[in-house]
Amino acid sequence: MSTEHFDDKGSPIDNGARIYVAGHRGMVGSAIVRALKQRGLDDPIAFTSSELDLRDPTAVQRMMDRERPTHVYLAAAKVGGIKANADAPADFIFDNLMIETSVIRAAHLTGVSKLLFLGSSCIYPKVTAQPITEGQLMTGALEPTNAPYALAKIAGIELCKAHRKQHGSNFISAMPTNLYGPGDNYHPTGSHVIPALIRKFHKAALSGAPAVDCWGSGTPRREFLHVDDLAEACLFLMDVYNGEEHVNVGTGVDMSILELAEMIAKLTGFSGEICWDSSQPDGTMRKQLDCSRIHALGWHHQVEVEAGLRAVIDDYAARPDEARSK
Ligand SMILES: NC(=O)c1ccc[n+]([C@@H]2O[C@H](COP(=O)([O-])OP(=O)(O)OC[C@H]3O[C@@H](n4cnc5c(N)ncnc54)[C@H](OP(=O)(O)O)[C@@H]3O)[C@@H](O)[C@H]2O)c1
Repeated sequence: MSTEHFDDKGSPIDNGARIYVAGHRGMVGSAIVRALKQRGLDDPIAFTSSELDLRDPTAVQRMMDRERPTHVYLAAAKVGGIKANADAPADFIFDNLMIETSVIRAAHLTGVSKLLFLGSSCIYPKVTAQPITEGQLMTGALEPTNAPYALAKIAGIELCKAHRKQHGSNFISAMPTNLYGPGDNYHPTGSHVIPALIRKFHKAALSGAPAVDCWGSGTPRREFLHVDDLAEACLFLMDVYNGEEHVNVGTGVDMSILELAEMIAKLTGFSGEICWDSSQPDGTMRKQLDCSRIHALGWHHQVEVEAGLRAVIDDYAARPDEARSK
């Protein structure tokens, strides 16, 4: 890891930086904006996708020339669950490649001091040793259902590395594990496992249903990180990390889907039976990140899953009905 060129860049906060958050309305981008505000920073530079389509390199370059950001958090992406990825693989690879290429190239051409690119743990091989270290990238075949998305994310890491190598750009990459928290997607067919289970158990608890059906066997294990912890990790890496290698961001702890379902059942007040439909696919049996690199740098997560879920469920339960599927 070569970090020596960049040791004098320091924290964006100390430098009176002009910060651009790409994807500021998304779950991750909005958490980064909250974390920046908590540090007393002004509103960052930000545009919605209808104001600025990041797939358009000319428009992105024009914006960068006008706004002259010094620090960029690249949290804009086309993101979705298994079904969305399966239905629109061309959009997932095209949109993500275009967004990354446009933003990273324009950041280089306008002399951005530092850029943080956000990828995802789906970059790692489908079958690989656990917990997964950063070095396991490209050591095996990807999970086929989201390979187009994962390949675009791997290309993003390489774009950062290549600009560092050729132009000396201080562009870094973070790979978060599964996230949950405010701003999550509760859509009935497009949501990830935590919002999907919250929807089901909350509804069953309200109606007094005797049982809830869950997909699969409940045995796969997953790691979950609160998005506010991820946002803190992003600010931390922007402050202290100047290496070319991407950095895993997680808790270093995983749990079975069965344990997760039981926890959500308890927190939503559901006391009926949980039935597992083993005819449905389980997906990868285990996916846990090795977080030694970020731990060695001095960052650790703060929000434990039960406390994080309790806050998310309280927020969900307080929503009006029509806001529960967004
Ligand atoms: N969610 C997770 O569990 C998870 C886990 C690991 C990694 N990540 C990574 O974190 C990053 C952000 O994910 P997220 O969950 O925050 O996604 P999200 O909630 O879907 O937000 C994505 C944001 O990207 C913006 N965007 C998408 N296409 C755009 C375009 N063509 N032009 C401009 N903006 C565009 C959207 O802007 P508008 O709202 O203005 O349309 C949206 O705010 C992604 O790189 C993802 O891989 C997420």
